[in-house]
Amino acid sequence: MTDEIRERVKQKYAEAARNAGGDKRCCCGSGDQEPITDLSCGSYSTEELGELPTEAVAASLGCGNPVALADLSPGEVVLDLGSGGGIDVLLSARRVSPGGKAYGLDMTDEMLELARKNQQKAGVENAEFLRGTIENIPLPDSHVDVVISNCVVNLSIDKERVISEAYRVLKPGGRFAISDVVFLGSKQELPDEVLHKVELWTGCVAGALEKAGYERILEETGFEDISVEVTNTYTPESVEGLSSPEEIEALRKVPAASAFIRARKPARE
Ligand SMILES: C[S@@+](CC[C@H](N)C(=O)[O-])C[C@H]1O[C@@H](n2cnc3c(N)ncnc32)[C@H](O)[C@@H]1O
Repeated sequence: MTDEIRERVKQKYAEAARNAGGDKRCCCGSGDQEPITDLSCGSYSTEELGELPTEAVAASLGCGNPVALADLSPGEVVLDLGSGGGIDVLLSARRVSPGGKAYGLDMTDEMLELARKNQQKAGVENAEFLRGTIENIPLPDSHVDVVISNCVVNLSIDKERVISEAYRVLKPGGRFAISDVVFLGSKQELPDEVLHKVELWTGCVAGALEKAGYERILEETGFEDISVEVTNTYTPESVEGLSSPEEIEALRKVPAASAFIRARKPARE
């Protein structure tokens, strides 16, 4: 089952990479599903977008702007989990120059190819795109200053593992600064049918975490200074496929949202 979900995610993003530059899609939505709208499309500044080739901007599928959140400085090493077409890696690479480096990690070959093309067009040299999964990060322990990610952890079949891998590769005192989709409340209170429709709509096939669940996993992994800041709550009316007043009411009680999730690895363990 887990392999099947991962394969579905891969196929979906291979298709998204092939269609990059066509229909503008934000966040997880792509292919035959509608995207979450009004998320990342509005969250990059004009200056940031102006720094990149239009192809890199058009390939963006995130739900926030983790680069703005991460407060990067020259000389730092950054890792973007699920880097897609590379928008956040290319922006980060500019922020950490001179002396720093930005890695992108993605499991979908078509996305890696697209990201490398975008890197070439952008003329960015201090970036590298790695092939692999966010559940098994192909970097040594204590290697990076900042882990960023944009609308990807919700796609993972093993979120605990992703967060513990992020912790492992961070240097002591390193920052975790990601955008993701969360549920505000207990998913158990959502009827299965409603949950299914929301997850179809968002494209988050492996299921988004509850806000409290995120905080718990980060804390259990050893992170400190944890915060989950909601940036946009989706109205039930905007979720495609929800029709009955009961379904709408259920989602009003436990809405889905995009959020900035921040934490720090202790300086001394
Ligand atoms: C919603 S897109 C976001 C892409 C990019 N972060 C952005 O903001 O445009 C999800 C990306 O994560 C990748 N991905 C999903 N699950 C993954 C996993 N378990 N390991 C590595 N990459 C993954 C997909 O291939 C895809 O490129």
